Amino acid sequence: MRLAFFGGKGGVGKTTCSAAFALALAEKGYRTLLVSTDPAHSTGDLLEVTGGEQPVNVKENLWLKEIDAEAASDRYIREVKQQLQGLTAPGLWKEVERQMDFAAASPGAEEAAQFDEMVGTILEADGSYDHLVFDTAPTGHTLRLMSLPELMGVWIEGMIARRKKTQDLNRMLSNIAGTDVEPEDRVYEILQRRKNRFAAVREALHNPDVTSFYFVLNPERLSIVETEKAMNLLHKYGVPVKGIVVNRVLPKEADGVFIAKRREQERAYVKNIAERFQGISKIYIPMKPTDIRGLDSLRAISELLWEGMFNKR
Ligand SMILES: Nc1ncnc2c1ncn2[C@@H]1O[C@H](COP(=O)(O)OP(=O)(O)OP(=O)(O)O)[C@@H](O)[C@H]1O
Ligand SMILES: [Mg+2]
Repeated sequence: MRLAFFGGKGGVGKTTCSAAFALALAEKGYRTLLVSTDPAHSTGDLLEVTGGEQPVNVKENLWLKEIDAEAASDRYIREVKQQLQGLTAPGLWKEVERQMDFAAASPGAEEAAQFDEMVGTILEADGSYDHLVFDTAPTGHTLRLMSLPELMGVWIEGMIARRKKTQDLNRMLSNIAGTDVEPEDRVYEILQRRKNRFAAVREALHNPDVTSFYFVLNPERLSIVETEKAMNLLHKYGVPVKGIVVNRVLPKEADGVFIAKRREQERAYVKNIAERFQGISKIYIPMKPTDIRGLDSLRAISELLWEGMFNKR
C-alpha cells in the first residue's frame, strides 16, 4: 500500500488537489481511500457525498473517510486514562483523571489524537487499498510524535522490568496460597501494541517507496515562505518530499490590464519558487474561472496532477 500526503497553508488547495489525485488513482484502477481530517467536511462537499468515519464509496475504486478530530480526541483521552489507571493504585485515579483533563485541554492534544487516528487508519487500511491519500500532511507537532516509539521503548522496557518483579512476587504468593491465577499483564500489552503501531507507521512514513509528501502552494509570498519552512521541518525529521503543486497560476488566456499586472507579479513568484525549490519536481495547476466542485470539474486538475507526477521526470 502506498501513502500520499498533501500539505500546505490554509486555503491553497489541499482538499482540491488531494481529491483530484485520489480520483486519478481510482480512474487508473487503483483501490484508493481518500482521508480527510477537515472538521468542515469540505472533502465530502467537493465530492458531493456525505462522508463519515467509516469509508464511504464515492465511485468505482474511490472511497472517502472523514476523521472527526474532536471525537477522536475524546476517544484517545478516554483510552489513555484507562491505560494509566491500570498502571496506578486506585487511590490515585482521581489525580490521573485531573491530569488527563489538563492534558486534553492543552494545545497539541487534538493533534496527538489525530496522529493516533492516522496511525490506526493506515494500519486498518493495509490490505484493503492500493493507495491512501491524505488531505493535510502531519504538522511539526505530529511529526515530533513520530520520535515517540524510541522514547516509549525506553519507558516500556523500564516498566517491564519493574512489573516482572511484582509479577514474580505475585506468582510466588499465589503458589504459597495454593491459587494459581496468572496475573495478566494487559497494561504492558497495550503499551507494547501502541509502541509497535507507532513504529510501523513511522517506518512507512520515512520510506520514499511507500510515502510521498506533496506541498500545495500558490504563487504568493506568504505561501512560498511557509512552504519552505514546512519543507525544512520534514527534512529534519527525515521524511521524503516528492514534489510541490503550484496551484492557481493565472492561465495564459486570462486577459485585461488588471490581470496583466497580476501576472507580472506572479511571474516573479514563479521564478522565486523555481529558485527556492531546486531539484524538487513541480506541477503547475492553472486558476479555474470558478470554484471546483464535483468529479467532472475535478477531472481536469486530476489529469494535470497525474501527468506531472508520473509522466515527467
Ligand atoms: N486551481 C483552482 N482554480 C480555482 N479555484 C480553486 C483552485 N484550486 C482551489 N480552488 C478553490 O479554492 C478554494 C480553496 O481550495 P481548497 O478547499 O482545496 O483549499 P484547502 O487548502 O483545502 O483549504 P483549507 O486550508 O481551508 O482546508 C475552494 O473553493 C476551491 O474550489
Ligand atoms: Mg481543505
